Formats: sequence, structure tokens, C-alpha cells
Amino acid sequence: MNKKRILIFASGRGSNAEAIHEAAINGTVNGEVIGVICDHADAQVLKRAERWNVPTTVIEMKACRDKADFNEKILEAAKSYNPDLICLAGYMRICGENLINAFENKIINIHPALLPSFRGLHAQRQAVEAGVKVSGCTVHFVGTGLDDGPIITQVAVPVYDDDTEDTLADRILQQEHPAYVRVVTAYCADELKIAGHHVSGMHTK
Ligand code: GAR
Repeated sequence: MNKKRILIFASGRGSNAEAIHEAAINGTVNGEVIGVICDHADAQVLKRAERWNVPTTVIEMKACRDKADFNEKILEAAKSYNPDLICLAGYMRICGENLINAFENKIINIHPALLPSFRGLHAQRQAVEAGVKVSGCTVHFVGTGLDDGPIITQVAVPVYDDDTEDTLADRILQQEHPAYVRVVTAYCADELKIAGHHVSGMHTK
């Protein structure tokens, strides 16, 4: 089977992107990170991509006329990489419908909460403030709503009495990297099947 062409979308640190790249390099994932699209020129993920020798495209909102123009440029850039899979890895923007339609069932996101709880920004802070005793991460196909779309896998972590947003974020992040790698591995092996809101292929007894 040909290696899948993986395009990363990221906005900041890039530790999930690094985990995916690492898994592709060491052969866990039958794929290759072929590019990074980033919406912040000073994001750490761009330094990582330079180290990996992977091309990057920066598209900043402030350089665009409006959201529609931004979405158009993002789509154009994504198409230019001809990806089999787009991994949102700490990408802090909602994807345009134009992108979602062009890459149906090919865009995956990781979110630092157990969806459908705590959608949107600061998911870990939302969990601490809500007083939940369990949180975690969700890897899901991207739908047109905020942090919706068919769930592929979830990993739970405990929330302790003295947790802050940061301590909980660290605990969740430790689970994010292997969870995302497992999903990308399954995707690149053509093991995921989507039927409506249900994804099968990773959670068998
Ligand atoms: C991760 O915790 C990821 O789940 C979260 O941002 C962090 C990025 O870290 N994503 C979102 O909140 C998306 N709404 P990273 O840049 O080191 O991968």
C-alpha cells in the first residue's frame, strides 16, 4: 500500500504534529508528513518542520481581506499539497466549509476533552471549572459544527482535587500523542469505516 500523504494544520507548539511525524519516520504510520499549514508566522511548529525538512505554508488572517478570503487561501494551499489526510494538531481555527467539502472524511482533529463535553477554546479550563472528575481527549473526523463530527477514539484521564488548567492539560497531552498516533496509524492502514456518526475499526473487544 502506498504511503499516505499527511498534511498538518497547526497554530502553535506542535507537539502532536511531532508525534505524528515521529511515528511516520519510525514506520509505525504508513505515511509521510508532506507539509505544514500554519496560521501564525512565529509558531513553534514551523521550527519543528524546518528540522524535519518538511515544507510549510503560513497564512495569517491579518494578511487576508476577510474570513472568506482566508478560507479560500487555506483551501488553495491544502490542495497544492495533494494530501490523503489532513491532521489538525493544535489548529485553533474552525475549518471553512469549502475545505471540509473538498476533503470529505479526510480531516481529523484532536480535542483536549471528552466530546461532546467542553467544545471550543480552553477545554481543560472548562473541565476544571465544571468540577468533572474525568476528562481526556477525543480524536474525531471534522464536521461543519464546532468540535463535532464522528468520534474515532477517546482516552479518559482522572481530574484531581488540586488540578489547575495546566496540570490537567499536561496529563491530557500525555494521552493525546499516543491516541493521535493510533488513529493516524489506523487511517493510513485503511482500517477506519464511517457510517453516519459512527466510526468503526479501532474499538473492537
Ligand atoms: C493540544 O492540547 C490540542 O488538543 C489542543 O491544543 C493543544 C496543542 O498542542 N487543541 C485544541 O484545543 C483544538 N481546539 P500541540 O501544539 O503541542 O500539539
